[in-house]
Amino acid sequence: MSESLNIAVIPGDGIGPEVIAEAVKVLQVVTVNTGVNLKLTNYKLGAEHWLETGETLPEETLTALRSHDAILFGAVGAAPGDTRIPSGLIEREMLLKLRFSLDHFVNLRPSKLYPGVPSPLANPGEIDFIVVREGTEGPYVGNGGVLRAGTPHEIATEVSINTAHGVERVVRDAFRRANDRPRKHLTLVHKHNVLVFAGHLWRRAVEAIAPEFPEVTHDYLHVDAATIFMTTNPSRFDVIVTDNLFGDILTDQAGAITGGIGLAASGNINMDRTAPSMFEPVHGSAPDIAGQQKADPTAAILSTALLLDHVGLPELARRVEAAVEGDVASRDEMTDPRTTSEIGDAIIAALA
Ligand code: NAI
Ligand code: MG
Repeated sequence: MSESLNIAVIPGDGIGPEVIAEAVKVLQVVTVNTGVNLKLTNYKLGAEHWLETGETLPEETLTALRSHDAILFGAVGAAPGDTRIPSGLIEREMLLKLRFSLDHFVNLRPSKLYPGVPSPLANPGEIDFIVVREGTEGPYVGNGGVLRAGTPHEIATEVSINTAHGVERVVRDAFRRANDRPRKHLTLVHKHNVLVFAGHLWRRAVEAIAPEFPEVTHDYLHVDAATIFMTTNPSRFDVIVTDNLFGDILTDQAGAITGGIGLAASGNINMDRTAPSMFEPVHGSAPDIAGQQKADPTAAILSTALLLDHVGLPELARRVEAAVEGDVASRDEMTDPRTTSEIGDAIIAALA
C-alpha cells in the first residue's frame, strides 16, 4: 500500500537552503521502501525573494501552501545591518502571517540533552522536556499602536490577547502530550500574580481541563522562577505550557542548556488540521556563516522528525531521531571539521 506525503519546502534565506537541503535528503532516504510516496514542492519566500520581487507572502502562494500535508521551513531574514530591507517586514508580513493564517496555535519545542552533547551547565542532569508555546495570541498579534510619536508624550501600547478558546485548546494539547509521555507531568508557566487577567484565564483553563487527564500531574511556576529552575534543575520539567511571549524566551534558554542553536527543532502546529503545519529549526538565517557550508543541519533534520510524527509516521520519526542521536554522540564539537553536507551524509548513513 502506498500513501502520498505532499510536502511544501520553503528554504528561505542565508543558511536556510543549506540546512534544508540536508533535511530533504533525510526525508527522501527515510521514506524509501516504506510505501510513502514523497512529493516535494519548493516555494521561494523570504528577504532575498522580497528584494527580487517585492513580494512577502502573496495570496496565491498562501493558497497553494494550504494544499500540502505539511511545510518544511528553513529560515528567513537578512543580516541585522542590511538596510535594504525594513526591519520587521519579513517577520510580520511573511513569517507571522503564515503562522497566523494557517492557525499554528501549538508552537512545539522539544528540549533534549543528547548523550555526548556538552551543556553549558556544570551539572545538567537528564534534560528531556517539551515546551508547548501558544502560537497565535499573546502580545505578538500586533494589537497596539502609538500616539504622539516622537514627542515626550508618546504613548505606545502592545496589548496581549488571550481568548478562552485559544488558551483552552493549547492547554488541552499540552495535557494530551503530557499524557503520552512516561512522566506525565505538566507545568503551567505564567505570571498570574501580576498579569492577573490573562494569568487567571490560563490557570482556570488548566484546572478545568486537568480532570480529563487523571494520570497527568500538574504544577505552576511564575516565569521568573521557571528561568531559575531551568538553570538549576531542568530535570524537573516534562511538559511546559505557556503563552507566546514567555514561550519565546524560555525556549531560547532551553535551547542554550541543551547544546545550542544547531540542535533545536520546532513545529508550528495546527492540531485541528484545518491547514498544514510547519516544521523548522529554531535558528535564523545566520548571515554570518551563510554560503560557507558551516551551518549545522541537525536542527533542520530533527524538524523532519517532528513533521513525520505530525503526519502519522512515528516509526520514521524515531529512525531520524536515533540516527541524529548516534551522530551527535560521536561528535567532538571542538574538532568537528565537517561541512553542512558531511553532517547530513553522516546522519543519512546512520539511517540506513
Ligand atoms: P541566527 O539564529 O540566524 O544566528 C545567531 C548565531 O547562531 C549566529 O552566530 C549564527 O552563525 C549561529 N547559528 C545559527 N544557526 C546555526 C547553525 N545551524 N549552525 C551553526 N551556527 C548557527 O539569529 P540572528 O543572527 O539573530 O538572525 C539572523 C536573521 O535570521 C535575522 O534576519 C532574523 O530576523 C532571522 N531569524 C529568522 C528566524 C526564522 O526564520 N524563524 C528565527 C530567528 C531569526
Ligand atoms: Mg526566538
